[in-house]
Amino acid sequence: MLQKITVVGAGNVGATTAQRLAEKELARTVVMVDVIEGVPQGKGLDQWESAPIEGFDTRVVGANDYAPAAGSELVVVTAGIARKPGMSRDDLVRTNADIVKQVAQQIKQVCPNAIVVVVSNPLDVMCWVTKQVTGFPRERVIGMAGVLDTARYRAFLAEALDVSVQDIQAMVLGGHGDTMVPLTSYTTVSGIPVTQLLDQATLDKIVDRTRNGGAEIVAFLKTGSAYYAPSAAVTAMVEAIVKDKKRVLPCAAWLEGEYGLKGMYCGVPGKLGRKGLERILEVQLTAAETAALKQSADAVKETMAAVKL
Ligand code: NAI
Ligand code: 2OP
Repeated sequence: MLQKITVVGAGNVGATTAQRLAEKELARTVVMVDVIEGVPQGKGLDQWESAPIEGFDTRVVGANDYAPAAGSELVVVTAGIARKPGMSRDDLVRTNADIVKQVAQQIKQVCPNAIVVVVSNPLDVMCWVTKQVTGFPRERVIGMAGVLDTARYRAFLAEALDVSVQDIQAMVLGGHGDTMVPLTSYTTVSGIPVTQLLDQATLDKIVDRTRNGGAEIVAFLKTGSAYYAPSAAVTAMVEAIVKDKKRVLPCAAWLEGEYGLKGMYCGVPGKLGRKGLERILEVQLTAAETAALKQSADAVKETMAAVKL
């Protein structure tokens, strides 16, 4: 267990993540920081009041400043706004980049040794902003997207095959957008290649649904985006780090030539342990997957170009 984890942004993803982290007792204290007066304090108190029922001893507290976050060993960044009518994608990128910039400056100041897990969108670009502003090494600035995208892919496959989700092994790489790359060549059901169990047309439909998984939830919710699966995905990454589990999970990582990509964040297989992103695993891809990864990286680069640091 860590002494302190801070979650910045006490909205849907941030607050649900704080509750999950507390229920798993991954830190003695979970701090939620948000700009809206009273919201992090109220949600933190409400969560702490669930402790006697759920049986956890993690204290959850909320604040509008970073003083209570001082010395956090791990920080989750979920601060940001959703796209509003009339706002272009570039406007959204610039607004969230400004928010994440301010957050990263505070993190650098009050918890200079923290491992940062970024969630705010557009994910790969917000990871880059965080890394640039904090100056932290790539081991300590990691993005969550692939764990969520892979969970969606695994859930859809389990449904189609009528098997347990536990028996689906898979990985989704690339940027967190509709160009993401579900690796069908590495998708197995207890070691059996999925291509032996599903026809190509069904598999293609599942890949397509995965790529649009975020939008599918927004279409239902209308006023917000997904947060139950995203907070579960963040918690899995945090747990792997806190417990030094050396889990191999898809992570948005700063690339220095791996997969032919450099100077940008993109989703790749990573090993997560107590030092953060302890290794990037370079695996062989089919020609189609390599081309799809390049296309996805190009989309991330295009979004990066909208941000001036
Ligand atoms: P939300 O709107 O419910 O919460 C965002 C919170 O950030 C709000 O409470 C807001 O007051 C706060 N905030 C804004 N500026 C801030 C600042 N300067 N400092 C601290 N807090 C600030 O949104 P939700 O659903 O929680 O999503 C959060 C972010 O995570 C969004 O950018 C969303 O697109 C992204 N997301 C990313 C996923 C991924 O796979 N990487 C999955 C799901 C969401
Ligand atoms: C998602 O994939 C909005 O990025 C978010 O649900």
